[in-house]
Amino acid sequence: MDWGKRNRIARMFPGRSGNTVMLAVDHGYFMGPTSRLENPRATITPLLPYADAIALTRGVLRTSVEPSTTTPIVLRVSGGATVLKEDLSDEALTTSVRDAVRLNASAVALSVFVGAPHEHDSLVNLASLVESGEEAGMPVMAITAVGKELEKRDARYLALACRVAAELGAHLVKTYFCEGFSKVVEGCPVPLVVAGGPRLDSDRAALELAFRAISEGAKGIDMGRNVWQSDHPVPMLKALRAIVHDRATVAEAEAVLSDSKRDR
Ligand code: R5P
Repeated sequence: MDWGKRNRIARMFPGRSGNTVMLAVDHGYFMGPTSRLENPRATITPLLPYADAIALTRGVLRTSVEPSTTTPIVLRVSGGATVLKEDLSDEALTTSVRDAVRLNASAVALSVFVGAPHEHDSLVNLASLVESGEEAGMPVMAITAVGKELEKRDARYLALACRVAAELGAHLVKTYFCEGFSKVVEGCPVPLVVAGGPRLDSDRAALELAFRAISEGAKGIDMGRNVWQSDHPVPMLKALRAIVHDRATVAEAEAVLSDSKRDR
């Protein structure tokens, strides 16, 4: 792998743990003003110092993040469908690698929709993004999207989707946690990070998800709603960091959460 790409990846996986805590705030590209992300700048600003990377679109990057930031940018470059349509898989590449370089992104990200009506298009988009990424030294993160069919999040399906993404050249894959997650990790030769999915019942449930994902081989998390839809987003991100970087147990992470709530 060339130096530029290795450097970009290394910056997203800092510190001795070699893992990453990414903050996902790219939901608006198909969901509009998602609850508690209505004003992106207000949501992002307090969280940014605790994120190893931030995942977002160029629109939100340009309008809602100060250019002086040193946090690595994972730029979403696919889109073209919204929640108003039944089929979310009808996506194309919406931002060029050239613009990603101009924006000093550390990686570009796109969704792949394995098994969906536009499976073929999304996989060809991935392959073509990898081609342009290779030319520019830009890592590509594939996101194994499941559209509205959340029940698809089982190990057999996700192992297939992640493996296909890696085979087509993705340098990183973002996927969901599921029962039997270690099988997904085992079959995927590139690092996996896990999304949180829709808000869970409690902060503890989100910490448990992160703990189990890291214990079963994920190299990090790329969470959104379970951070900024929590009533305590910054303490929550600190608690997740304890799990991802310090291998804290769920109980230890809950203590970080409580201490941090008290300090604020
Ligand atoms: C979907 O829009 C994106 O890929 C999100 O970045 C991803 O689902 C992570 O966010 P959350 O933890 O809210 O699922």
